[in-house]
Amino acid sequence: MHFRVKLKNSTRHFLYLRANSTLMPQNTLLLDVLNGKPVNRPPIWIMRQAGRILPEYRALRSRLSGFVELVTTPDLAAEVTVQPVDRLGVDAAIIFSDILVIPECMGLHYELIEKKGPFFPETIKGIADIEALDSGESAASRLSYVFDAINETKKRLEDRVPLIGFSGAPWTLMCYMIEGSGSKTFSKAKAVLYKEPAMAHKLLQKLTDTVIEYLKLKVKSGVDVVQVFDSWAGVLDQQTYTKFSLPYIEQIVAAINDLVPTIVFAKGAHFSLDDILNGQSNAVGLDWSIDIPQIRKFVGSDRVLQGNMDPCVLYGSKDRIAEKVKQIHSQMGQNHIFNLGHGVYPDTPLENVISFVNSVKSLEY
Ligand code: CP3
Repeated sequence: MHFRVKLKNSTRHFLYLRANSTLMPQNTLLLDVLNGKPVNRPPIWIMRQAGRILPEYRALRSRLSGFVELVTTPDLAAEVTVQPVDRLGVDAAIIFSDILVIPECMGLHYELIEKKGPFFPETIKGIADIEALDSGESAASRLSYVFDAINETKKRLEDRVPLIGFSGAPWTLMCYMIEGSGSKTFSKAKAVLYKEPAMAHKLLQKLTDTVIEYLKLKVKSGVDVVQVFDSWAGVLDQQTYTKFSLPYIEQIVAAINDLVPTIVFAKGAHFSLDDILNGQSNAVGLDWSIDIPQIRKFVGSDRVLQGNMDPCVLYGSKDRIAEKVKQIHSQMGQNHIFNLGHGVYPDTPLENVISFVNSVKSLEY
C-alpha cells in the first residue's frame, strides 16, 4: 500500500511515502530529475532492458510455452523485471509486460509468433467491432496479472530503484488492432483516419479510457513513473498526429501526472515535437534522429529530456560508446535521463550494454 502525498502546489512536485513511512526508493536519481531536483549525474535506464539481451532471460524464456506465459505469470514477470537491475546496474526497473495487453483486455486477443512478432487472429474492421470492445475500468481490471507482477516486483526490488510502468499510446495500439500485426507502412490503420475519421476517434477514445484506468491501477499497485510509448508516431504527419494521437496522449498524461511523473516517447514524431514538448508530461523521450542542440535551443535547459543514443552505437567499441555518452551528456546538460533513442536490439553484446551503463554512471555535473 502506498500513500502519495502532494507537498507543493505544483503538480510536478511530489514526495512519495510508503505505508511503513520510509521514503522510497534508495536510488532517487530518476524521480529527482523528473521532480526538478538537482542530481550529480543523469540517471540511466534502457528501453527494452528486460528481455533478450540477457542470457538469464533467454534461459527462463526457453523453458516456457511462449512470451504470453511469461507476461501472464506474475512471479516470472517480476523475475525478468529485476534481472537488468542486478545485471546492468540501471537506475530504474521497467515492469516486464507488453503494450498489447490493452487490446487483449478489451476483447481482442493477441499472440506472439516466434521471430515474427505480434499477431491478432481477429482485427477491427468496422464500427460494430469497436462497439463490441469492452473499455475503461471493467476492461483494465482484467489485467490483474500485471498488477500482481508489479506487487511482486516491488517486493523483490526492496526499494533499490524506482519501477516504471508503461502503456502504448492509443494510436500505436490502434495500428496493431487494425493491421493485426506489425507493418512497414501501417497503411490500413492510416486509411481509417482518412476514410472513417469518426470511427477512428471512437476507437482511440475507448483505448484512451482503458489506458487511463489501467495506468491508475498500475500506480495503485506501486509503479513510481509512467512512460507512454507512441512507437508508430512516425508514420503520421503533423496534421494527422495533432488530430489522432496527441490529444489522446494528453488526456492520459493529464489523468496520470497528478499521481506519478510521466514520460512521453513518440518515436519519429519530429514534426510534432514542439507540441509534445509544450505538453504536460514531466519528460519527453527523443529518438536518435533528433538533434539535441537544436531542441535545447527551442525548449531551454529546464525541460527534462530522455534519450537519445542510437542503439547501434552499442555495436561499436567501448571507447566509441564512452565518447558518444560524453557528447550526449555535454549537449543535454542538466535535466536529462540517459537512455537509447529506441529499444536495445536483441543481438547487442551484453558487455557493451554494461559498458554504456558504466560510462553514464561515471559522468558528473
Ligand atoms: O522495456 C522493457 O524492458 C519492458 C518490456 C517491454 C516489452 N514490450 C517486452 C517484450 C516493453 C516496454 C514493451 C513495449 C512494446 N511492445 C512496444 C513499445 C516499445 C517499442 O519498442 O516501440 C511495442 C511496439 C510492442 C509490441 C511488440 N511486442 C513487438 C513489436 C514485439 C516483437 C518484437 C520485439 O520487440 O521483440 C513484442 C514482443 C516482446 N515484448 C518481446 C519482449 C521482451 C520479445 C518476446 C520474446 O521473444 O521473448
